[in-house]
Amino acid sequence: MNSKEIRQKYLSFFEKRGHAVLPSTSLVPENDPSVLFNTAGMQPLVPYLLGEKHPLGTRLCSIQKCVRTIDLDDVGDNTHATFFEMMGNWSLGDYFKKESINWSFELLTSKEEGFGIDPSRLYVTCFEGDKNAPKDEESAGIWREIFDKHGVKGNRIFFLPAENNWWSAGDNGPCGADTEIFYDISGLHTDGLSHEEYLEADEKQEVVEIWNNVFMEFEKKDGEIIGKLANKNVDTGAGFERFCLVLNGKSNFYDTDIFEEIFAKIDAQHAELNPSTAQLQSPSTLSEKEALRAKRIVADHVRTSVMLISDGVTPSNTDQGYILRRLLRRAVRFADNLGLKKGSLFWIADAVVNTYADIYENVARQRETIKITIDNEEQKFRNTLSHGLKEFDRIVKKDSKSISGKDAFVLFSTYGFPVEMTIEMAGEIGLQVDKDAFEEEMKKHQDLSRSGAGQKFKGGMGDTSDISIKYHTATHLLHQALREVLGTHVSQKGSNITAERLRFDFAHTAKMTDDEKERVEEIVNKRIEEALPVNVVELPIEEAEKTGALHFFGEKYGDKVTLYYIGNTIEEAFSKEFCGGPHVKNTSELGHFKIQKEEAVSAGVRRIKAVLE
Ligand code: SER
Repeated sequence: MNSKEIRQKYLSFFEKRGHAVLPSTSLVPENDPSVLFNTAGMQPLVPYLLGEKHPLGTRLCSIQKCVRTIDLDDVGDNTHATFFEMMGNWSLGDYFKKESINWSFELLTSKEEGFGIDPSRLYVTCFEGDKNAPKDEESAGIWREIFDKHGVKGNRIFFLPAENNWWSAGDNGPCGADTEIFYDISGLHTDGLSHEEYLEADEKQEVVEIWNNVFMEFEKKDGEIIGKLANKNVDTGAGFERFCLVLNGKSNFYDTDIFEEIFAKIDAQHAELNPSTAQLQSPSTLSEKEALRAKRIVADHVRTSVMLISDGVTPSNTDQGYILRRLLRRAVRFADNLGLKKGSLFWIADAVVNTYADIYENVARQRETIKITIDNEEQKFRNTLSHGLKEFDRIVKKDSKSISGKDAFVLFSTYGFPVEMTIEMAGEIGLQVDKDAFEEEMKKHQDLSRSGAGQKFKGGMGDTSDISIKYHTATHLLHQALREVLGTHVSQKGSNITAERLRFDFAHTAKMTDDEKERVEEIVNKRIEEALPVNVVELPIEEAEKTGALHFFGEKYGDKVTLYYIGNTIEEAFSKEFCGGPHVKNTSELGHFKIQKEEAVSAGVRRIKAVLE
């Protein structure tokens, strides 16, 4: 079933059941300055979920355009995209759990009216209860009845805490318990799963969430539940791209028909294909895996840019316009890495317009404006890009450890490098950027202020807030602990720090066992309890290497390197690494270390997300 059929089937199923079909609203929320973009299907409906009367009645459905740019550095893997569409249906004080759950099941499984999914592929989760609301036995009972009626074998229903089964758009607004529907993409679990097995299958992405039915009965203010809503509402959401993936038996949405024409156009833009007309870039030196990631990034960013421009956003240095600029400039950089011709984005945008022209009238109507806006932004960036890259190299040579706020500002203001791009490029060669100092420079130049966006998109690598510094030191402890528990083949493949967590990618093939994770946590926490000093020395590179310190970007270091070691002396230190810092003074500052997640990133590379509590 192709994506167009999936759209139609979803909407006509609910239309037949009395729902008014709403067009998607603009990606830029009309009356909500607190967010830059719509990030969920329910967002434009918040006033109605809070009790206002909707002119089209109490049953609504839509396919809503959404943009999320929080996980920009994850785009290119199997599951992250900055633009997506969300299929949703709503009851405003009309039907509740029974109808909602039964319709979801019917649409998913019915051969006549729905998608004909085999019910034995389905698993569901329900809310286990807490101080705000009781265990959701009602939803579980409805599911039990459905599974029994259809002869679906085994344990299918799992109760989970609020973290999993309570939904709200943020700290304010309507919220409630939800029931989430999962699809077994592995095809391995037809007979049911124990609770533990289900958690493991979820972790391995063998079962993936395809639909979330939220029963919105409560209201939140400043993160606290303040009482019940006037109505009992239903808010469901199903990621459209995810549905397309599942219904076509694919493992990622870039392989669905949505990306067919876009990818074909990217392939056709390789400079070497048409040497007579192409302005050759340096040929791509990417590995196959890197090239696939780059291609997905270009596809994703151009797709999102087309949709943003169709909704009236233009590249600028503030708010939504700044996000658009960042996406386009990042797309240019990855198009170059991929070895595409200059000006390729114009043609790729054309393929995106073709993909969405039948669905969004404003995309079709503005085809030329969209393409020209994208091309202008590429040209504008290219005017300074090669000089900017030279300047970047010069800065890196000048100081092999970090990029100062002043230099990052020059790259931004003179060469048009969004600071996030400088941070990303610096990260690729193991350098930090002093983002706080960059922000200071920005403040000094108020004519270039990018107010809102700066606030809303804080965090990421290069953030030198106190909490990020703690995570940086914790990353060193984690790295060494992993080597002790798993072996010295463990080496850093990537690191990303935000104010909320650390993320550490490392070479290792097997999934870590619970026991291994516990031992790693224990080692790190022990080092924290021992209150070890964190020391730094500057040494000539040969001497630094002799200490046995870990280093992964050898050729990028200058004659002298800084070496951070955790312990009283360099000989006895628990951890030693070449590093630009900054770090805390003593491990006692870190608090309690906890691994939240361990997962595969690619063959031979694992990822840990961990927090300090
Ligand atoms: N609001 C819920 C979600 O985004 C259901 O639509 O998951």
